[in-house]
Amino acid sequence: MRKYFIAGNWKMNHSISETIEYCRQLRVKGLKNISSDIVLFPPSISIQSMMKTLEDTPVKIGGQNMHQESDGAFTGEISSEMFADSGCEYILIGHSERRQYFNETNELVNKKLKKALGSNLKPVVCIGEKLEEREAGKTSDVILEQLKNGLKDIAKADMQNIIIAYEPIWAIGTGLTAKPEQAQEIHSLIRNVIKNDFSEHLGKNLRILYGGSAKVKNAKSLLSEKDIDGLLIGGASLKVDAFYKIIQIAENLTIN
Ligand code: PGA
Repeated sequence: MRKYFIAGNWKMNHSISETIEYCRQLRVKGLKNISSDIVLFPPSISIQSMMKTLEDTPVKIGGQNMHQESDGAFTGEISSEMFADSGCEYILIGHSERRQYFNETNELVNKKLKKALGSNLKPVVCIGEKLEEREAGKTSDVILEQLKNGLKDIAKADMQNIIIAYEPIWAIGTGLTAKPEQAQEIHSLIRNVIKNDFSEHLGKNLRILYGGSAKVKNAKSLLSEKDIDGLLIGGASLKVDAFYKIIQIAENLTIN
């Protein structure tokens, strides 16, 4: 049985002190009986403070990006082993901002993915099309390409630890959300690819998150779609009230 997965991608937002305050408030709101998976992706510098402030709560923590090597002369980078050692359980891989501003390709995503799995991190692999690709009717082609190359040579045993986030680039940070049925169409495509390329069981159990201006107002309609198993929330996760409200929305829905 799949559980909802509600994740907050903070990107380059919130200082350490703001993080501590946010997490204190989140605790006060009540996290005890939460059954969904809740994950926060703060800037790496805040991971330890977040971990301490959220100790003994079900909230898990992840890194926003990692380097594909274990160690070495890569100034400014952090390895998967370091994230795992810091207590992180998850890692974002291939976020569209990494692809757009840091030239990450599907090939690099694939390398990072294998490295993350080798370090026992659970990767959340982000895919999604640009506006011009959607307008040219190429959405499915782009998604298929990203899955084919991003998941190249991934073992079946590893696939069960991978989460996919469908994030149409035109919806990220723009206030434009994909219509629930538009997102559902792509989520269903993604699930079918995993069923065909890996196994029926892995496809059925795969968790596919939607990301792109997900917020309190649209969380219920998105999460009600058959193949939408959770949300990867940027802007709306920065405010503890909004993030908590979305958690409550997921808690009150039953997954299909
Ligand atoms: P957004 O970001 O919710 O601010 O659109 C989502 C994401 O980039 O993961």
